[in-house]
Amino acid sequence: MQLVDRGYRRFVRFPKPYVELLDCIQQHLVPRTYVEVGVSTGRTLSLALPGTICIGIDPAPKLRAPLGPTSRLFTSTSDDFFAHQDLRSLLEGRPVDLAFIDGLHHFEVALRDFINLERFASSDSVVLIHDCYPIDELTATRERTTAIWSGDIWKLILCLKQWRPDLQVNVADTAPTGLGIVRGLDPDSTVLEESYDRIYEQFIALPFATLDRSKAEMLNRVPGDWNTVRSLLPTMPFRPYNVTLFRGRQAVAGMVAAGRRYVAGRPPKI
Ligand SMILES: C[S@@+](CC[C@H](N)C(=O)[O-])C[C@H]1O[C@@H](n2cnc3c(N)ncnc32)[C@H](O)[C@@H]1O
Repeated sequence: MQLVDRGYRRFVRFPKPYVELLDCIQQHLVPRTYVEVGVSTGRTLSLALPGTICIGIDPAPKLRAPLGPTSRLFTSTSDDFFAHQDLRSLLEGRPVDLAFIDGLHHFEVALRDFINLERFASSDSVVLIHDCYPIDELTATRERTTAIWSGDIWKLILCLKQWRPDLQVNVADTAPTGLGIVRGLDPDSTVLEESYDRIYEQFIALPFATLDRSKAEMLNRVPGDWNTVRSLLPTMPFRPYNVTLFRGRQAVAGMVAAGRRYVAGRPPKI
């Protein structure tokens, strides 16, 4: 088993630490259902294991590879998707076991994504929120001016802490801009929806300097290593799956691809 893990880590490369963390989360939880808001190239959607019912939502996807047989991509904004699609029937009546909010990096849009996803969650569900731990003011502006851009998603963490103290909210400090982990979801809660206008007014103009007092404490920062993140997740997978066999196959495929690149004189893929 250790050999398989070593082979997997050696031959299956991830471009960024948060992607590797998402991969670990998928393999730990083995969700029955997965919803991703903001798909882009499909890099993170493709981390879901075979058999997971996956719903991707993105108005302008740029898929690099075809999706798996249990994945569907909806080319629309998340607001349009939730207004016009019946997520429950798309998930064959199951709750959203795992969701990843990584669409438009504006506080109020991510808040609506959260509200919409929670309606289809169960008390065991996990919602991940990208870009909650901003690097600095420049990369956290509402209008994008930098390559790395987290927008003002950090406000969603402050909002959930204040308005939904019943939730367990943590932010893993993983590069480049953190990964929020929310548990204890309550599909019957209407607090955020009913108070949406007040919440918007409270947070929308909050300056970045709000975080000067103690960014780590205010955003419930935890280290971004796998052992810490695993301790924040449900202990049991949502469904049985032979993850070791999967990792072994991926490691062999990665090794063969690396061998082909070597023979062709191309540099290793990082
Ligand atoms: C940062 S990328 C997603 C990256 C992907 N999750 C990953 O980690 O590889 C953000 C994506 O959100 C999409 N997007 C922008 N506005 C959106 C909206 N209102 N609803 C859903 N997706 C949106 C963009 O088209 C873009 O592809």
